[in-house]
Amino acid sequence: MKAKYLTTAVLAAALCGPVAAQAENLTLYCTVDETWCQQVARGFEEETGITVDMTRKSSGEFYAQVRAEASNPKGDIWWGGTGDPHLQAAAEGLTEEYVSPMRPELHDWAIRQAEASGNRTIGVYSGALGFGYNKELLEKNGLPVPACWADLIKPEYEGQIQIANPNSSGTAYTMLATMVQLMGEEKGFEYLKALHKNVNQYTKSGSAPIKAAGLGETTIGIVFMHDAVAQTVAGFPIVTVAPCEGTGYEIGSQSIIKGARNLESAKKFYDWSLRADVQSRAQEANSFQVPSNKAAKTSDKAPDLSTIKLIDYDFKKYGSSEERKRLLTKWDAEIGSQPQ
Ligand code: F6P
Repeated sequence: MKAKYLTTAVLAAALCGPVAAQAENLTLYCTVDETWCQQVARGFEEETGITVDMTRKSSGEFYAQVRAEASNPKGDIWWGGTGDPHLQAAAEGLTEEYVSPMRPELHDWAIRQAEASGNRTIGVYSGALGFGYNKELLEKNGLPVPACWADLIKPEYEGQIQIANPNSSGTAYTMLATMVQLMGEEKGFEYLKALHKNVNQYTKSGSAPIKAAGLGETTIGIVFMHDAVAQTVAGFPIVTVAPCEGTGYEIGSQSIIKGARNLESAKKFYDWSLRADVQSRAQEANSFQVPSNKAAKTSDKAPDLSTIKLIDYDFKKYGSSEERKRLLTKWDAEIGSQPQ
């Protein structure tokens, strides 16, 4: 009886009472540094009133999660992270097509990412791969200053280097694809095998190795150069290196998840995060990538990509489903599963 009364009352309120505005929400999967993730989540929430539920994970982890959730999507937008897994998600139909009105404000490299994916992803920032070292530890251990990729496989660096696992980390996958493009597949894998002897740990997140170097837990971390700069700016004795042979780079991207429950909020966030004023604030969160909006301010601490020898990274190929799967399987078999 009571239940019946409540039902009727609720129905009456719904029909006659003031129509309450439905709260807008956004489930954000974020793949930049935690501080920047918090900054964008709170900034968007404050400006739009849309409640943001944010989780931070690495590129490969979110790719796997979006894939696993495809029949019942939980996330609305996947923001940040290296472009390769975003391209893979696009090719597998896991993300939505969307053409943002912000596109004319962006650099060509950001738009190329969209074009390569049938408009299912777009560039938000870019940054070059490199490494960093703890200069105090290097001196203390009497080690030479590394300047090239070739230096990192020398026996004197045994146990001194950290890098992430390319299955979870977009940074480490960029390293894997970079070596294959820089040296050819056979030599690239030989290089990674030799490097394996010097690696003390494969971390889950791409920037963890340089944070560990900052704390003196490893001497060298292979990371995106902007992540090494962030440690120096934070006061740690880290020196950033652009490898002498040349290096790969990322186009950090964003994608709307196919079947997003909050599609309109996801589009709003997508456009908002491409705005110049929003991208200019990244440096306040100690993030020094190059923004994709041409009018956004790049920090003077950001590695200057025009002075770094960059390879012509083939995003279409290395972000394709077959190639990414193939290289990761090969890395697992020939490197990750091998004793050190
Ligand atoms: O820490 C920021 C950052 O390096 C981004 O530039 C990059 O897209 C992302 O992290 C990659 O993270 P992960 O290697 O953990 O996937």
